[in-house]
Amino acid sequence: MCGIVGYVGTREAADFLLDGLAKLEYRGYDSAGIAVYDQDRITVRKKMGRLINLLQEIKEHPVSGTIGIGHTRWATHGGPSDINSHPHTDMNGNFAIVHNGIIENYMEIKEELLKKGVVFRSETDSEVVAHLCADLYDGDFENTVRNVLRRLRGSYSLVFMSRFAPDRIICCKKDNPLIVGLGDGENYIASDIPAILSYTRKTYIMNDGEMAIVKKDGVWVTDLEGKPISKKVFVVNWDAEAAEKGGFEHFMLKEIYEQPKTIRDTLSCRMTADGKQVRFDELNWTPEDVRSIGKVLIIACGTAYHAGLLAKYFIEKLARIPVEVDIASEYRYRDPLTDSKTLSIIISQSGETIDTLAALKEAKRRGARSLAVTNVVGSSVSREADQVVYTWAGPEIAVASTKAYTTQLAALLLLAIYMGQLNGVLTTTAVTKLLQDLKKVPDQCEDIFSQVNTVKALAKAFTDHEDAFFIGRSMDYGLAMEGALKLKEISYIHAEAYAGGELKHGTLALIVPGIPVIALATQGDVEEKMISNIKEVKARDAYVIGIAKASDREVGKTVDVVLHVPDSDNFVVPILAVIPLQLLAYYAAVLKGNDVDKPRNLAKSVTVE
Ligand code: F6R
Repeated sequence: MCGIVGYVGTREAADFLLDGLAKLEYRGYDSAGIAVYDQDRITVRKKMGRLINLLQEIKEHPVSGTIGIGHTRWATHGGPSDINSHPHTDMNGNFAIVHNGIIENYMEIKEELLKKGVVFRSETDSEVVAHLCADLYDGDFENTVRNVLRRLRGSYSLVFMSRFAPDRIICCKKDNPLIVGLGDGENYIASDIPAILSYTRKTYIMNDGEMAIVKKDGVWVTDLEGKPISKKVFVVNWDAEAAEKGGFEHFMLKEIYEQPKTIRDTLSCRMTADGKQVRFDELNWTPEDVRSIGKVLIIACGTAYHAGLLAKYFIEKLARIPVEVDIASEYRYRDPLTDSKTLSIIISQSGETIDTLAALKEAKRRGARSLAVTNVVGSSVSREADQVVYTWAGPEIAVASTKAYTTQLAALLLLAIYMGQLNGVLTTTAVTKLLQDLKKVPDQCEDIFSQVNTVKALAKAFTDHEDAFFIGRSMDYGLAMEGALKLKEISYIHAEAYAGGELKHGTLALIVPGIPVIALATQGDVEEKMISNIKEVKARDAYVIGIAKASDREVGKTVDVVLHVPDSDNFVVPILAVIPLQLLAYYAAVLKGNDVDKPRNLAKSVTVE
């Protein structure tokens, strides 16, 4: 989720690069850097932290030149540091690259290059690309880049420059955004439109498998075999604010729509190439490591806690290890039974939530092993925990968490499968089947987006009421809690989540005619019971919106309206089923005219107890 820029023209490249990076800082702010070519050398300036640090560095050590590339980083592989910042160069400074995305097979390439004597400076996956350029250089820069691309697996937008071809920069993409801005005697490259808006509105929107050779007097687009492609100029008519949100009305909506990519990124590198096993190179556990776990303790707050509730089902059912889930602010004060046989899993998007951090310290003090599942590399939680699994959701700007939650579910499900695989509870066939369904999720999200108009219309059902109920059984109960929280926090409609079987123990008294009830019924093993619960609320004339799998024929007969999510394994389907809930909350908030991205009384990162 980094931001990238490039410039070729007649002006000082650094001026555009730094201005463009400032516009992209929302995409990552762990570090920033630029590389500029002049007088037969590529000069790199890069600095950890906010862009201001780089500006200061360049003030002290100016760079001059009319061609260059730049990057603002959201750390994935390798923590935030000067060395891990982009651009990366090969050993002789002949090639410089910036990269956004994940190179899945970087370890394999790195090992190969290490054997050839290449010295790596950073811990990033991206650095291999610069060294690979040097290794494969055949006298033709374009051809070399094509050969480099043939070696890469994963997702990327990449920009290359070389001392051997100092009149051009080359860029290409796969599953990551990239545009070329068309100027007059100068051209630009950026990962996102805001970077170029004050320079040009004429762009080429790059597609996967295309490569652009960008010079000051022209841009040539080819496929990866070098065959010319004729591109249509796209004229951007967004204002600067709309451009930052990628044309979406709010960051929350943009982030909901980013989920196919963020889920794909979180899954990538964590499955073996044959798709039959889970691998966590960052953990590298042995069967004994898993067998020695007496109990798993999950600690988190808010939405991350809701991810933890589902992880309890994942781990208990798939690895048969007992799991407790605790709200971080409660854990510390209940004199918990935590010891050296406990594996504590700490879930936090920001990695800075003070209650979560304090609970992690308490669990460690009591002797527990600790594993953080977090989105922010180098965050306090990631530094405090013994081991870390990162979700690769990129920066989440809207206060209401969406893409962080689904990537947490994806990472936690992989972790549960990993544990079950290692302790022998899961057969290879069972693992393969789960992974097959997990891999389909990013594409299946699109099926849900295709129903957005129905969801939008349904959101009206909420805005006429002050209360709403979410019900579900098994994993759907945890999901119901997340759905209710989303609705509360941005639409300010009071919402409660109940386990389907609990209604009759009190809550049914609140069901009055017309009240909206969201009934989650995706879990086949409890569907009959769930349908009975739906009938209980229908008998009191509630307005029931059901969420069921596409092939389901029963739920639709009982509810007022049903939203279908693609068929998937019971463990996988929650990742999909939460998306209509996010959209319902979003559109209800929009209809009420609320400040969706910054709901009242709330902050993105809660650093007070
Ligand atoms: C709700 C939401 C919050 C956070 C909670 C924990 O949409 O975002 O409930 O989940 O404040 O934050 P992190 O995950 O950063 O520890």
